[in-house]
Amino acid sequence: MVSDYKRTEVYSGPEAAQPKHMFVWLCNKLADTGIACGSILDVGAATGDFLRYAASRFPNATCEGLEYDRELVQIGNAKAAAIKLHHGDANSMDALNDQAFDAVFLTGTHSIFEDFRPSFAECIRVARPGGRVFITGLFNDYPVDARIHWRYAERFEDDWHPGYNLFSKASIAAFLAGQPRVPAHTFEKFVLPFDLEPQQDPIRSWTEPGDTGERNFRNGIMPLNLELLTLTIGSDSGAER
Ligand SMILES: C[S@@+](CC[C@H](N)C(=O)[O-])C[C@H]1O[C@@H](n2cnc3c(N)ncnc32)[C@H](O)[C@@H]1O
Repeated sequence: MVSDYKRTEVYSGPEAAQPKHMFVWLCNKLADTGIACGSILDVGAATGDFLRYAASRFPNATCEGLEYDRELVQIGNAKAAAIKLHHGDANSMDALNDQAFDAVFLTGTHSIFEDFRPSFAECIRVARPGGRVFITGLFNDYPVDARIHWRYAERFEDDWHPGYNLFSKASIAAFLAGQPRVPAHTFEKFVLPFDLEPQQDPIRSWTEPGDTGERNFRNGIMPLNLELLTLTIGSDSGAER
């Protein structure tokens, strides 16, 4: 049996003094689009660390998050009034209106799901014309999709855990071809400018040098090809804002 994803202890610790490099990089990507950003949604927001940083970068934007783990929602909402976390499911964001957000982020979350399509479709639905959807995580360059279930060695009695499903760029391109609101998409490799050491938990990722000195991510399961998928949401007039 595969359990629900629940890593509350990993995401409920004290907030780091510095924002994650990924969060800074993602906010730079949003700034680079030049869109007038009045509203941001982070799906799979944990306790809202990304949103609190995004609120400091885009002070005129409302910053909301959606998170499935009620404990994380409660901890996050107790931290600061500048952001608002909602309890909900990325695959069915019933409480959120169509075309409500200029920028929608889904970071490190789609590989939890057995199928990427419902969460991607929901992100597209709630994104405004002229806006962007930023999806960061694992993508396969090869035309193969894989479902990965893991457990710690010798804990044979545990349920299998999700979190590292690997969807191919080919499947994603085929899905996006059927999304009339997404006229363009790009993939871009996420590169860390410093080494990440292995931690005691072999599920947490670290970096290793590649053949040409590049820094590759992996964890105790497999190499991790971390990329950013940016979806451009077509504007009603056909021109981007
Ligand atoms: C790997 S963590 C990433 C957290 C954060 N986005 C980050 O980058 O640090 C995945 C998050 O998605 C949440 N999650 C899992 N299933 C979800 C679902 N169906 N809908 C919304 N959030 C979900 C988890 O509880 C967790 O907070």
